[in-house]
Amino acid sequence: MKDTKLVKLTGTSADKNVLEEAGRLIRQGELVIFPTETVYGIGANGLDAAACRAIYTAKGRPSDNPLILTVPDKAGVEAVVSYLPPLAETLIEKFWPGPLTLVLPRKDTVPDAATGGLDTVALRCPDHAGCREFLKAAGVPVAGPSANLSGRPSPTTASEAFHDMEGRVAMILDGGSCTVGVESTIVEVLDNVVTVLRPGAVTEEMLAEVAPYVTTDTHLVTGKGVPKAPGMKYRHYAPEAPVRVFVGSADQVSKAVGEVRTAAENDGKRLGYLLSREVIEKSEVTGKDVYCWGTHGNKTELAKELYRGLLFFDEHPVDLIVAEGVETGGIGTAVMNRMKKAADGDVMTV
Ligand code: TXA
Ligand code: MG
Repeated sequence: MKDTKLVKLTGTSADKNVLEEAGRLIRQGELVIFPTETVYGIGANGLDAAACRAIYTAKGRPSDNPLILTVPDKAGVEAVVSYLPPLAETLIEKFWPGPLTLVLPRKDTVPDAATGGLDTVALRCPDHAGCREFLKAAGVPVAGPSANLSGRPSPTTASEAFHDMEGRVAMILDGGSCTVGVESTIVEVLDNVVTVLRPGAVTEEMLAEVAPYVTTDTHLVTGKGVPKAPGMKYRHYAPEAPVRVFVGSADQVSKAVGEVRTAAENDGKRLGYLLSREVIEKSEVTGKDVYCWGTHGNKTELAKELYRGLLFFDEHPVDLIVAEGVETGGIGTAVMNRMKKAADGDVMTV
């Protein structure tokens, strides 16, 4: 067990000593949890194989699932990428710093322990000032997967990261609640083609504004074959209770919730509710097993609240979580990708 130091970032010059200490810890091969705009990451020196392996141990992560390298700016790319297609440069100009991760050919300086032995490396530059200061202080690319135990929802606050990782990391930097709430969009970039491997806040529509061709990994569309992002094959984001998701108008979802409730009452089962305000009102669910994620149909609010809502039900154990989803399109595609996994496919349009 390590002694885990939890430190608040203030966004002022008072952070200087803390950030220097965090950078030093990274260079010494220790693990530091850091905030980003999407979810919290667990950082290690991405050029140090032993430090990268320590991430897998801390998370209980399968070793074939490669890590993302996090950099403070575009200059950070050159040390680790062997070829930068012009289209990748265009994407970097347009979307960095921001929730877009690029998969590019790697240099030999990147250890197999970071890439799971792949000949590519995933790179991301977060839109979070404290995070980028930390990355600059580290002075090396920081391997940074989400800071949850493998299989659990990603943390969007420092206290959630502390819950999973206390005793497993040297330091946690508390940079407040994540503003986006779901992990970055991952794309593979070839000369003219951008392929989305994991949907996120940078949507296909946004990518199509600058890329001649935008496609989606067929695994995401059909659920068949092997996903190009190895992590997408795991049943991620899962809370302890099973989840059932309904998508539709507030009236239709309320009706479906009412039916599940009647059935659960007959079977003596305890339900948890992860719903919008409108559906909570219409279906008249009350009590401590209700988590309100925001306004019906508001995709941005659900993105921000989804993981916190799923984690809420670990503190309030129930037999089944009845959740309300949103239409796909925009960030709704990322939200529903994660919800489908949390629900193991139990998603119904009503
Ligand atoms: O928003 C995010 O991306 C967060 C924050 C902390 O930066 N990070 C994150 O990392 O979500 P992680 O490790 O939980 O997810 C990384 C995903 C995995 O699905 C992994 O399989 C995929 O990226 N990946 C990493 N390197 C890859 C590569 N070379 N080719 C294809 N997929 C890759
Ligand atoms: Mg993850």
